[in-house]
Amino acid sequence: MNSVLVTGGAGFIGSNFVRMVLAEHRECKVINLDKLTYAGNLENLAGFMEDSNHEFVRGDICDGLLVERLLEEYSVDAIINFAAESHVDRSIMEPGVFIETNVKGTVALLKAALDKGVGKFVQVSTDEVYGSLGPEGLFTETTPLSPNSPYSASKASADHMVAAFGHTWELDYNITRCSNNYGEYQFPEKMIPLMINNALNDKPLPVYGDGMNVRDWLYVYDHCTAIWQVLTKGRSGDIYNIGGNNEKTNLEVVKRILDRLGKSEDLITFVKDRPGHDRRYAIDSSKIMSELGWKPSVTFEEGIGKAIDWYLENRKWLEHVVSGEYEKYYDQMY
Ligand code: NAD
Ligand code: DAU
Repeated sequence: MNSVLVTGGAGFIGSNFVRMVLAEHRECKVINLDKLTYAGNLENLAGFMEDSNHEFVRGDICDGLLVERLLEEYSVDAIINFAAESHVDRSIMEPGVFIETNVKGTVALLKAALDKGVGKFVQVSTDEVYGSLGPEGLFTETTPLSPNSPYSASKASADHMVAAFGHTWELDYNITRCSNNYGEYQFPEKMIPLMINNALNDKPLPVYGDGMNVRDWLYVYDHCTAIWQVLTKGRSGDIYNIGGNNEKTNLEVVKRILDRLGKSEDLITFVKDRPGHDRRYAIDSSKIMSELGWKPSVTFEEGIGKAIDWYLENRKWLEHVVSGEYEKYYDQMY
């Protein structure tokens, strides 16, 4: 793997993936295409902008001509598509842009990959495409797709388009479906960094519904190593579930954050539930573990401690994101 196009590499998981590749796979050049929406942040890439192995390009994955130019100019071997509108609550407020980026943008990338003969296409998908579980059972790669939110419906549509390009034109692809990530550089609209930020500022912690919804948490670095395994060893046309076997209720996670920060549980405030809120996600990742030899590097207890400490040590990053300061910066830069 000499050259990869990473899309959405200024976002949470994408920037962690770029960091991992630049640190651990120096043989590989990273072309990082990101539109810098509200969720993209060049501060997530601090230190890499001068790295000769990293080329940052501000642009839209829907722009097929731009994508084709990059694939040709950098002789790209593989595309890893992280770029997306990723927040469920936003998709409930305004679904349109989720169709644009998540569906049409993925199709634009697929067409460009086919036209330019790119060797591998990795679609970074989500366990949410499987829908919601009852109290028992796990999502496997053969669980039927049953998305419930506009976000997950758009991701499921994209997954179908990727598979259709594989079936129709023999595009070499993989789809990864990971559970909830947490860790460094996550935008504080998502539950864990939002709760950390509010707790640090002694603001109420808004827990949806009864707080008993279950998510299966994975440290972001471990998601990145899993994607690398799929990229380099995945069987063409296969889907790989990724997860750390860390089911927690939201209330458990929130209480752990408050405990670590030494804040009172009185900050917990139960608020109106998310419409159509999926009750439980839990992933069976035995396939990627047995076939590709992947395993997580940390337990939830270790990972959440590291993540909370990172937010404590990077209060400036948090303040900039919350104040929208970095958006003003881009307006001057580009
Ligand atoms: P994020 O919202 O933090 O980052 C998304 C990035 O994509 C941003 O940098 C944004 O600027 C960029 N982007 C958005 N629209 C674009 C466009 N049209 N063209 C180019 N760039 C664009 O998201 P994230 O949490 O890092 O998620 C990354 C991917 O992983 C998504 O595809 C998401 O569906 C998937 N995923 C996320 C999780 C999770 O827990 N966060 C879990 C499983 C899968
Ligand atoms: O499962 C993978 C998915 O995980 C990814 O595909 C999505 O991109 C990612 O955003 C995430 O989706 P969730 O909806 O599970 O994550 P979120 O952080 O928004 O919410 C986690 C849980 O916490 C969920 O049950 C809703 C709840 N919640 C969330 C927020 C923002 C609250 O109780 N209060 C909040 O303020």
